[in-house]
Amino acid sequence: MCSVIGYSGNNLAAPILVKYLKKMEYRGYDSVGISTCHKNSIITKKKVGRIYEVNKKNKLDRLPGNVGIGHTRWATHGSVTDINAHPHASNSGKISIVHNGIIENYMEIKKHLMKSRYKFYSDTDSEVIANLLQYNFEKTSNIKKSMINTIKQLHGKYSFITILDNKLIAVRHHKSLMLGTKDGECFISSDILGIPIEIDDIIYLKDQSFVILGEKRIEMYDFSGEHIRFKTKRIEKKFHKISKLDYKHFTLKEIIEQAKSILQVNKRSIMKLSKLIKNTEKIYIIGSGTSYNAALIAKYLMVRYCKKIVDAIIAEEFTILPNMDEDSAIIAISQSGETADVIDAVDMANKENLNVYAIVNVPTSLLTTKCDCVVKINCGIEIGVAATKSFTSQLATIYLLLEEISNKKLINLASVSKSILMILENKLEVINISKILKNVKNMYVLGNGIHYPIASEGALKLKELSTIHAESMFGGELKHGSLTLIDENAYVIAINPKDSTYDDMKISISEIKSRGAKIVGISNHYNELYDYWIRMPTINEFVFPLIEIIPLQLLAYYLALEKNLDPDHPKNLAKSVTVK
Ligand code: F6R
Repeated sequence: MCSVIGYSGNNLAAPILVKYLKKMEYRGYDSVGISTCHKNSIITKKKVGRIYEVNKKNKLDRLPGNVGIGHTRWATHGSVTDINAHPHASNSGKISIVHNGIIENYMEIKKHLMKSRYKFYSDTDSEVIANLLQYNFEKTSNIKKSMINTIKQLHGKYSFITILDNKLIAVRHHKSLMLGTKDGECFISSDILGIPIEIDDIIYLKDQSFVILGEKRIEMYDFSGEHIRFKTKRIEKKFHKISKLDYKHFTLKEIIEQAKSILQVNKRSIMKLSKLIKNTEKIYIIGSGTSYNAALIAKYLMVRYCKKIVDAIIAEEFTILPNMDEDSAIIAISQSGETADVIDAVDMANKENLNVYAIVNVPTSLLTTKCDCVVKINCGIEIGVAATKSFTSQLATIYLLLEEISNKKLINLASVSKSILMILENKLEVINISKILKNVKNMYVLGNGIHYPIASEGALKLKELSTIHAESMFGGELKHGSLTLIDENAYVIAINPKDSTYDDMKISISEIKSRGAKIVGISNHYNELYDYWIRMPTINEFVFPLIEIIPLQLLAYYLALEKNLDPDHPKNLAKSVTVK
């Protein structure tokens, strides 16, 4: 999703901006641009494409000036074009802005400014910020007043950084922004990776605040103009120390890391959360995408082991229900802790004074500031856009949480880790199947009972990484309509461990086979109905989800390679989806 960055100091801004935009590439983007301020004028370069290529052709990092802003865009308003890329200049050319988020009332503002003869060149909501700032600054000639007036007129959730009157100003309104300083240099960024590793302490801009970076001092204000004292926080350096090592892609590295990363969950905070949940009657688990699939597993297990009312809700669909009261708890699951759908749901729950807890990976994220108890899954930074190791760490956390709540031994993570290693060692089976499936356009992924959320997660990985359309389904549901699409050209993946779901799935597979489709069976038990068998180790039935996702992740990854796709950067996708 969009990254914003700003620099002011004694060094040239442009190479620094390009360097740190590259570090934030994993967030996903379609275009890149920077503005610098040199001898009282602003110079901008921006283009559609990857940072490396755009910079090679257009020499972004050669722009002069010691103050600058940079951006990678993930289109929301207006298509992917050079003109829509950020930064956006005001009509005078004296103000430039980079923006993350959405300005809901941009059309209204645009119409109003057009009446005052302002011209607009892009289709973005962001360009209005630059012109509105110019409009307000020309009236007051005062940075602080013009910022307050501008903020008052903008509706939505956003952060932006602007060069105004040769100074750098950053605004935070419900989107993360952080600031690091060292030896007279200032770095502002939407992501911790946009701050140099040499900086030990950072300032998280308070929500609804803005900061003006002068040559000698940093002034921070709330939206009414009251001065705010800021606090610094020590940076977790491990988030900077990321490298692909010898792996071809981060996605593969992260899939392979899972045998270790599931062992790193934070047990202390799990105990704390379990105590809170023990006193709660109704539990609503929310999440988006992969984290929602983890929420479905949590629901399945909690209903069985905790004798509580539990529901899993897609974050965007979360609404306050009549039976949600002080006996209710919301558990938000999110890798990034920045997903707008999740943040909105949590804000809604907080407004109703519900108990709000989080299971999160990024310890410095917005979500962690909004919850009464936070469990960190601790799997390390996840760079691959498709969630892999964060999913298994979310599941490991959920199993341990359940053990605490139910006082039952459910999982031996060390033996799960060994099983994951065994699957990874047998990856040749999966690689061979990926060669057979590479031209397939549609697939079903079947799972019954607790395996259904894994079928959904597997289908999501296939869509994201290999661009194969995949649909998850309960085995028996196929006969209620979708069977009409099954013929000798169809491929169906069946998650079919030898457990209580096995016999029913076998019946579904027979029905599919009778119509000529090919079956890929993921199981610890051979069945002659499988055309291709991905052999699995035997493990406790309820823990099987933690290992059966691994071959599906591998399959999606190797299919991407077969199709010459870049698994680390799937088309149109962003790592943290910070807009609605
Ligand atoms: C799938 C994927 C997305 C995220 C979703 C929620 O591989 O990465 O579906 O799971 O955008 O993100 P978080 O967990 O950061 O809230």
